[in-house]
Amino acid sequence: MSKNSWQSSLKDYEKFVVDRKYDSEYLRRVGLHSNLLDIINRYPKGRLLDVGCGDGWMFRHIKGFEYHSCDVTEPADRKFIEEGRFSLQDIRKLSYESDSFDIVVASLVLIWFSEIELAVEELCRVTDRSNGSIIVALVNPYFYRTGDVDTDGNFKITADLSKDFIIKDHKISGLVGPFSYYYRPPYKYINLFLKNGVHLKNIFDWFIDIDDYNSEVSNRENSKIRRTGKVPLFTFMEFSYSGTQTNFKPK
Ligand SMILES: C[S@@+](CC[C@H](N)C(=O)[O-])C[C@H]1O[C@@H](n2cnc3c(N)ncnc32)[C@H](O)[C@@H]1O
Repeated sequence: MSKNSWQSSLKDYEKFVVDRKYDSEYLRRVGLHSNLLDIINRYPKGRLLDVGCGDGWMFRHIKGFEYHSCDVTEPADRKFIEEGRFSLQDIRKLSYESDSFDIVVASLVLIWFSEIELAVEELCRVTDRSNGSIIVALVNPYFYRTGDVDTDGNFKITADLSKDFIIKDHKISGLVGPFSYYYRPPYKYINLFLKNGVHLKNIFDWFIDIDDYNSEVSNRENSKIRRTGKVPLFTFMEFSYSGTQTNFKPK
């Protein structure tokens, strides 16, 4: 199993995601963190696993859950490692017992490796089959690294979306990495989860509010990637063994 190059790049990534010189800090705070926290906080305060936890931002924001975390590489924060019950693990072969968690979260994780089938099987295995849920956040597969934004804010797709592909030397914002990025259309993710016995409970996309983005970010000297609000940036999916559909209204 390839572990990608997260082992050598996580330290750079941890610094990058909180650096207000770059627009990623804004996009993650406004688009990723706030949506994930809204979703998580609608659940009863049970056992929560944050798979591919990165720097552990989620631990610092959620309250009342029995939080556990794992990743293929160690985050820098020693306090988080201890208090966030961190362990080194590959999502494709988790050491947790089956049915161990009420909520399993995989935030921006499933796009970085091969053998996605094993990862989804493992996520479903460690989630409590009586009524557990899995929350997945992805960069929207159709609009991440598949083309470019023009000066009118239109997104031109140049990749062939009919086939899976891998970008081997992907650097986040052209700076952090290189990583391998795996393109798979959303239906493939959804079907894999369904195959493992969970129901799709909720799915929505998050779009950049370009006026807000421009007022907060456009003067950041290192935010050079052209963005648009016309296509989604993040996609959120909730799967559950209980099958009750939610009517969650995205922001
Ligand atoms: C883009 S970061 C996301 C971190 C965090 N979940 C967040 O929301 O900010 C991707 C994370 O996935 C982890 N990762 C990559 N491949 C993995 C694997 N096979 N098993 C577990 N974690 C993995 C990386 O080490 C990294 O911390």
